[in-house]
Amino acid sequence: MTSPTRPLALVTGASSGIGADLARELARDGHDLVLAARTVAPMENLAAELTAYGAGTVVIAADLSQPGGAAELVSAIEARGLTVDVLVNNAGLGAVGRFDLPGMVARRHGKVMLVASTAAFQPGPRMAVYFATKAYVLSFGEAIAYELRGTGVTVTVLCPGPTATNFAQIAGMSELTFFNSAARQVMSAAAVARLGYRGLKAGRRVVITGLLNRIVALGGRFAPHPISLPVTKALMSRR
Ligand SMILES: NC(=O)c1ccc[n+]([C@@H]2O[C@H](COP(=O)([O-])OP(=O)(O)OC[C@H]3O[C@@H](n4cnc5c(N)ncnc54)[C@H](OP(=O)(O)O)[C@@H]3O)[C@@H](O)[C@H]2O)c1
Repeated sequence: MTSPTRPLALVTGASSGIGADLARELARDGHDLVLAARTVAPMENLAAELTAYGAGTVVIAADLSQPGGAAELVSAIEARGLTVDVLVNNAGLGAVGRFDLPGMVARRHGKVMLVASTAAFQPGPRMAVYFATKAYVLSFGEAIAYELRGTGVTVTVLCPGPTATNFAQIAGMSELTFFNSAARQVMSAAAVARLGYRGLKAGRRVVITGLLNRIVALGGRFAPHPISLPVTKALMSRR
């Protein structure tokens, strides 16, 4: 049972490793715990161990790789009348191996373009998910481009900056400083496509469209985050 006076921490991936030890840290520091992962037995053992720190613990079986798995975990917590004060989102795993494009590799011929963005080069407050997904696309594309060297298959990651399409309107960002700034030249879709296609044909790994966007991307990649975070937030804000 959890107590109404102790803050409650949810740790995902609490059945082993770093998650289990984060749960121990939190319990020692006066928290009750919700432990979540797929394997229940080690979490029940951990719950028993945590009573030594006076922690009440609830164990919930959750497969967070399943569609709706996170929502089910939230519902299970709410159904117990619990409110989470601290969330430690730790569940995860890795797998080593080459990511192949089997048909193309077998034929020893192929070209792939992934469209990322200059948003890929820094974190983006006020558009956090978009920037993070584009960082994923850039990282993933560069990695497989490197893996596929010598196979006859190339991967090109296209990174446009602001481009005159429906994107800004759909994203609700037409009024943002970023798009309206007189200092920035919004590029046409045709110009972006021309540069991207040229890079695809040449098998280039990364194509950043235009000198200004290359400077912005370089700044995003190398500027210390205490500087790039407020700058990006300001660009993602209305005038
Ligand atoms: N160990 C390293 O070298 C290292 C380095 C950098 C970052 N990390 C990160 O640290 C975090 C914890 O990893 P670890 O090193 O402690 O490895 P670990 O001992 O294998 O723990 C992974 C935890 O994630 C849980 N998990 C995996 N898939 C899950 C799913 N589908 N749904 C719910 N829970 C799931 C596992 O529980 P079940 O299998 O019971 O579900 C387990 O509790 C991960 O995010 C990992 O990427 C690890």
